[in-house]
Amino acid sequence: MQPHPGVLRQLALTVVPPFASRLGRAQVAATVAQTIRARALREAGHDVLFLTIGEPDFATPAHAIEAAHGAALRGDTKYPPQDGTRALKDAVARMFAREQGLSFAPEQIIVGNGGKQVIFDALLATAEQGCEVLIPAPYWSAYAGMAQVCGATPVFISCPQNNGFRLRPEDLEAAITPATRWLVVNTPNNPTGAALSRDDLTALGAVLLRHPHVWIMADDMYARLLYDGGPHATLAAVAPALAHRALTVSGVSKTYAMTGWRIGFGAGPAALIRAMANMQGQATAGVSTVGQAAAAAALDGPQEGVAAQAASYRRRRDLVADALDAVPGLACHRPDGAFYVFPSVAGCLGHTSAGGRQIDTDEDFACALLEEAHVAVVQGASFGMRPYVRISYATDEATLIRACTRIAEFVSRLR
Ligand SMILES: Cc1ncc(COP(=O)(O)O)c(C=O)c1O
Repeated sequence: MQPHPGVLRQLALTVVPPFASRLGRAQVAATVAQTIRARALREAGHDVLFLTIGEPDFATPAHAIEAAHGAALRGDTKYPPQDGTRALKDAVARMFAREQGLSFAPEQIIVGNGGKQVIFDALLATAEQGCEVLIPAPYWSAYAGMAQVCGATPVFISCPQNNGFRLRPEDLEAAITPATRWLVVNTPNNPTGAALSRDDLTALGAVLLRHPHVWIMADDMYARLLYDGGPHATLAAVAPALAHRALTVSGVSKTYAMTGWRIGFGAGPAALIRAMANMQGQATAGVSTVGQAAAAAALDGPQEGVAAQAASYRRRRDLVADALDAVPGLACHRPDGAFYVFPSVAGCLGHTSAGGRQIDTDEDFACALLEEAHVAVVQGASFGMRPYVRISYATDEATLIRACTRIAEFVSRLR
């Protein structure tokens, strides 16, 4: 019997056409998922403390905002060049020369909608099925997601706490195969805050010199947020023989509290930058002109604010690391940079919370902490290492003190 035409018409209004298979390879980041849960609790009237997002609580420098305003008034409001305005590329080149001693021509620089798009451009242009992308763990989860969307396979190299969460040359050597297309090096690191020294990078560079088929991504997003030792070191500068296959990524989000402006940049060999600009051009007709004007002003303008913010992050790091390390059941290292701590919750596993929740994993810990103590943190599993949690201390000291007190109370009530 034929279905009634009315039923068919009704069905046609509800059937959704298919989605792409790549969607199955793309997961919502745990940071986002945990923030959504925390917002729901806040909307339900709870006093939730957010330590989930890696976003500075400072204001964008006034001179950067004024530069954006001036650019708009001057009529700098038309489509920009897809790989970035010349003014911003020149400012980026000056920044790399000043801070890393690296020299780049304009055709060796690309501007993207945040460092995130720059990294995606690079993977889209080079990685595909059959390729492996080496990601030292713990890692910023976006690398793995992007590699998978490109069809490539993320391969994780464990960097355990007993080596300061730093990548060891012998582990890198063992992980490289003929299929390796990229190594990602993120220092200072999200989520551990660990930083690689010049000597660390020299040793890794010696391994990479033996494997000329591997591209190198130096994600230096937190380069200016380094608290002990320093200055920041990057592979293209430490091992110039690798520069022709190194992409150095940076941006204004973290350094200048400009996350919402969405400006990041990459610098490397001209052929790679051209390929990346091609990929970027498929998705977007360039990056906001006024945002680029603001970023150039931030890079070229007074830098005292950066030092003042770094001093403030340093104080917060000490406050949080000391408070958490003093809690029986937690073990918190003192990271070198960025604005995260990554304490181990191993001592809390196998216990039950005051609210009756069984804590067997770091995810159980993060969920119970949110539900019962209203402190939002992110489980280490989503950064590729258990049993830890990531705590962002890019928030004011009063909130951090309240959060640490609540965490200590929550842990002390575990049975
Ligand atoms: C390690 C790392 N790299 C890159 C980025 C990208 O930053 P943006 O796209 O805001 O420039 C982030 C943001 O959280 C990050 O943590």
